[in-house]
Amino acid sequence: MARRPVNFTLNGSPRAAFAEEGQNLLEFLRRGVGDLTPKYGCGQGTCGACTVTVNGRTQLACLVLAETVEGAEIGTAAGLATSGTLDPLQEAFMDHFAAQCGYCTPGMLVSARALLDANPRPTREEVVEAISGNLCRCTGYEPIIAAILSVAEGRARA
Ligand code: FES
Ligand code: FES
Repeated sequence: MARRPVNFTLNGSPRAAFAEEGQNLLEFLRRGVGDLTPKYGCGQGTCGACTVTVNGRTQLACLVLAETVEGAEIGTAAGLATSGTLDPLQEAFMDHFAAQCGYCTPGMLVSARALLDANPRPTREEVVEAISGNLCRCTGYEPIIAAILSVAEGRARA
């Protein structure tokens, strides 16, 4: 199968890897690059477990062709704690018991971080909208919404 080199930035670091022809960004990141934080849930754009950012906008990695991210800035949940300190969202998810099995959590965190970066003081409705593409079978969503709002309201641990 044909492969082509892809140069991109992952969580702020320049990276290069070979993408197989037709490979989606989720497989590319997990198998080709070794970032296992984007999860495979449905593979067809309905669960949000694979959510990443591409040039600052949330995208479903299972629906993006890997070869199209040449030169792009990719963000994953692995980038939230690269300095060794947890992102306030990660702290808030722990404080609010917003993760149970944790499978949806990386995608949730990416969606929530993208929201807060664009809109630091979202309303509850805006939080709900921002995570509306991220399915969670465990929490009932309320702890997740509370965690995100706590960061927006400055109530999370510093
Ligand atoms: Fe991409 Fe479900 S694995 S949306
Ligand atoms: Fe299990 Fe969300 S914590 S799917």
